[in-house]
Formats: sequence, structure tokens, C-alpha cells
Amino acid sequence: MSTAISPTAYNYKVVRQFAIMTVVWGILGMGLGVFIASQLVWPELNFGLPWTSFGRLRPLHTNLVIFAFGGCALFATSYYVVQRTCQTRLISDSLAAFTFWGWQAVIVGAIITLPLGYTTTKEYAELEWPLAILLAIVWISYGLVFFGTITKRNTKHIYVGNWFYGAFIVVTAMLHIVNHASLPVSFFKSYSAYSGATDAMIQWWYGHNAVGFFLTTGFLGMMYYFVPKQAERPIYSYRLSIVHFWALITLYIWAGPHHLHYTALPDWAQSLGMAMSIILLAPSWGGMINGMMTLSGAWHKLRTDPILRFLVVSLAFYGMSTFEGPMMAIKTVNSLSHYTDWTIGHVHAGALGWVAMISIGAIYHMIPKLFGRAQMHSIGLINTHFWLATIGTVLYIASMWVNGITQGLMWRAINDDGTLTYSFVEALQASHPGFIVRALGGAFFASGMLFMAYNVWRTVRASNPVEAKAAEQIAVVGAH
Ligand code: HEM
Ligand code: HEM
Repeated sequence: MSTAISPTAYNYKVVRQFAIMTVVWGILGMGLGVFIASQLVWPELNFGLPWTSFGRLRPLHTNLVIFAFGGCALFATSYYVVQRTCQTRLISDSLAAFTFWGWQAVIVGAIITLPLGYTTTKEYAELEWPLAILLAIVWISYGLVFFGTITKRNTKHIYVGNWFYGAFIVVTAMLHIVNHASLPVSFFKSYSAYSGATDAMIQWWYGHNAVGFFLTTGFLGMMYYFVPKQAERPIYSYRLSIVHFWALITLYIWAGPHHLHYTALPDWAQSLGMAMSIILLAPSWGGMINGMMTLSGAWHKLRTDPILRFLVVSLAFYGMSTFEGPMMAIKTVNSLSHYTDWTIGHVHAGALGWVAMISIGAIYHMIPKLFGRAQMHSIGLINTHFWLATIGTVLYIASMWVNGITQGLMWRAINDDGTLTYSFVEALQASHPGFIVRALGGAFFASGMLFMAYNVWRTVRASNPVEAKAAEQIAVVGAH
């Protein structure tokens, strides 16, 4: 099929900016993860200073990895995918540029305010009201750019990846705005509009759907474009993608109460959350299976293509963590796992195995195309990165499973006379080896990111401006 070169071009500038910042924030966020993991091994690393203490750096880690690293990956890929699958340029360059600079400003705001101790105290929603408002404005602009681009598309249908990105954008705006409703009392302090059990419920409706829509639905959008592209195969089942899309977004929104088992939340709400979480296994695996089966007839490519390996292994971890999650949502299982490192292991099976690995695979796929190169500077280095990331993830989650079950069992062990068999400190001592293995696994994962940075830098440096410009041309006929 011949390919006509159109006079208009994609806006790759903003995609390049977000893609590069994904790598930068990934290194900082994961480096900080290794640092706080080391603080749990060697408490001296708190340095006796408030702003370097674990309690203040932990939320900075979560903000950097979720919103800075994950967020930039989602912005970069969604802007890339929406343009290519709609065969049109972003609707507004200036609004897209605003989303880039606005998003970076929110992150820099987090880096300054969180170590200083300014926080709403709501997990994953810690940023105080001025930053929360800026974030809302940036997010609404993002929605305008994304949906505006879809309205001016040159294709008949809307590719399924865009459905997932679209749901992630709409629901994230809704969650953020509702959960952040608060009364400011000074420039850096506000009080939630909700109180008591209602506040907790709203917070975990937000928290769980931050997982469901930010860390899952958006990344499924990524999966639906980059897995078929990298495997050079069509999606296994378009019908399955639509069915599991609607099932996923209908069910996720009800599952929040599994974070509040055995609390003051009404019992019926806890049971409803548990039931919805168990059913959630089906649409989650629908996505995983659809991605995996896309490789039918292309499995041999895994032998030579480390980018495809990143993408496929991420799907395996997605399947694993979405099996583990429904299990942990069962109240009796949660009575053992809650408060323990098992939760931390589950989080990072999803975060490192799924979110980070799929993002890394997508960035490796995009970088040469964005900078007019045939491929990344070194395929060998991608392979090294792949093994560091995989081994790092396995070390992280296996050590946290062992720690989690050990802690849960030690905390509930009782002597014949009804007294506790173990003190809390004894359970902490038993966790120490696991903390060391976790820090080591994290160091593996984070060092892989350094290889990535070097590889990206060499690829970008070798970029030819003429070829990079040519790559931006919209191919009117042919595959996207
Ligand atoms: C090098 C990689 C990483 C290391 C070493 C690391 C380490 C840690 C540590 C030590 C904690 C605190 C655990 C505790 O309080 O006991 C934590 C929490 C957390 N991390 Fe990471 N992390 C890494 C990467 C990531 C990534 C890539 C993400 C997300 C995309 C992520 C998301 C989170 C979340 C959501 C929590 C809070 C979990 C909870 O409250 O249950 N981490 N991390
Ligand atoms: C069907 C899918 C899933 C279900 C039903 C589920 C369920 C659960 C449950 C029951 C907990 C423990 C709550 C507690 O005891 O406090 C939890 C925690 C968590 N999960 Fe999942 N999970 C799923 C998938 C995922 C995925 C794919 C990710 C990451 C990408 C993820 C990230 C998290 C995080 C960050 C937490 C910790 C929240 C906190 O306490 O700070 N989950 N999940």
C-alpha cells in the first residue's frame, strides 16, 4: 500500500518532552524508593532531620512514581496514540504545552512541600489545596486536548486504546475533585469537607480508583496500542476488549471498601466491596488474556525482542496482581494481610511488574520513532535492563510475601492464657532480612533505569533533525 505524505504533521514535541521526563522521574522516584527501603534496614538514614524522615519521604516516593513517572508515561503515550490512531494532530499545541509545564510544576511543588511536611494526610492525595487546584486545571486541559483531538479525527472509528485512556482521564478528574473538596484555613492547610467514616469511604473510593483508573485503565490503553504494534499482530479479540472495558469500569468503582475491612464502615458496605472485588478478577483477566493472546503466532519474537519481553512480562504481573488483589479483598484473608508487608508486595507486583514494565516497554518502542531513528542505540542494554527489572521485581515481591505472612501470623499468635506470644518488636526483627532483600531488589530495578537513561541519551544524541521531522509527517494511507 502506498503512503502519501500529508502536509500536516503530528505534534511529537510534547510527546518527546513527556517521554524524556518519564525516564528522569522514574530514576528519581525509584531512587527514592531504594532510599526509603534502606531507611527501613538502617534507620540511621533518617539523619534525625524531619524533612529526611521516612514519614515525609514515603509520600514523596509515591507521588513521584505514580504521578511523575506513571503520569508522564500516560501523557506521552496517550498523546502519541491518540494522534496516530486518529491520524490527526493534537487539537491545540499551546494547551498541550500547558499540560506539560503545568504537570511538571505540580511535581516540583510536591518535591518542595511534602518534605516540608505540608500534607492533607490523605494517601495519594497529599498535595495541599493550591497544588490540588493547579492539578485539576492541568487535568481538565488534558481532557480538552485528548477529547478535542478525538473529535477532529480522520478515522471512522475510535480505536479501543483511546476508550481506556478516555475513561482514565474522565474518572481521574472526578475522583480528584470530589476527594479534594476541603476548606482552606491558610495557604498550606485545609480540612476535608467530609468527616469520620464518610471521609474514610470517600478517600478509599478515591484511593482504589486511583489504582483502578490511573494505574490500570490508563495503562491498559497503553497495552492496547503497544502490544499489537510491537508484536506486529492485530489484537486477539476486539469484542473482548469492548466487553472487558465496560465490565472493568462498571465494577472498579464499587471495590473501594476492601481497604476498610473491619473498620467503622457499615458492614454491608465492606461486604459489597469484597464481592465486587472478587468479580473484578474476570474483566481484569479479560484484558490480560487479550494482550497475551495477541502474541499468538508471534511468540518466537520474544527470543530476540527485549521490548516485547517487557510488554509481555508486564501482562503476566498484571494477571498475577489482579488475582492476588481479589483474594486479599476476602475479609478473612484481609484480616491476615492488612497492615503487613503483604500489601506492600501486592502494590509493587502491580507497580513494578505491571505499571513500570509496560511503561518502559512503551517508551523503548516510542523513542526511536520520536527521534527519527530506526531503533534504540543498544538492544543489548534493553535486554540487561529487562533482566534487572524482572529479577528486581521478583526479589521485591517474594521478600514482602514472606515478611507479610510472618508478620500477620506473629501478630495473631496467642498463648494459652490469652496473652500475645510475640511483641511487635519481635515481628519487626523477623522482618529485617526481608527488608534487606527488598532494598536489593529495588536497587536492581532502579539501576536498570540508569541503563535506560544512557540508552535513551545515546539514541537522542544520534537523532537526525531531518529524519526526526520526517517521522512527524502524518501518513494518510497505511497503518498507524
Ligand atoms: C526501585 C523501585 C522501588 C522501591 C525500592 C520502592 C520502595 C518502596 C518502599 C520502601 C515503600 C514503603 C513501604 C512501607 O511503608 O513499608 C513503598 C511504598 C509504595 N510504593 Fe514503592 N518502590 C519502588 C517503586 C515503585 C513504583 C514504580 C511504584 C508505582 C508505580 C511504587 C508505588 C508505591 C506505593 C503506591 C507505595 C505505598 C504502598 C502502600 O501504602 O500500601 N513504588 N515503595
Ligand atoms: C482486581 C484487581 C485488584 C484488586 C481487587 C485489589 C485489591 C486490593 C486489596 C484487597 C488491597 C489491600 C487493602 C488493605 O488491606 O488495606 C489492595 C491494596 C493495594 N493495591 Fe490492589 N488490587 C487489585 C489490583 C491492583 C493493581 C493492578 C495495582 C497496581 C497497579 C494495585 C495497587 C494497590 C495499592 C497501591 C494498594 C495499597 C493501598 C494502600 O493501602 O495504600 N492493586 N488491593
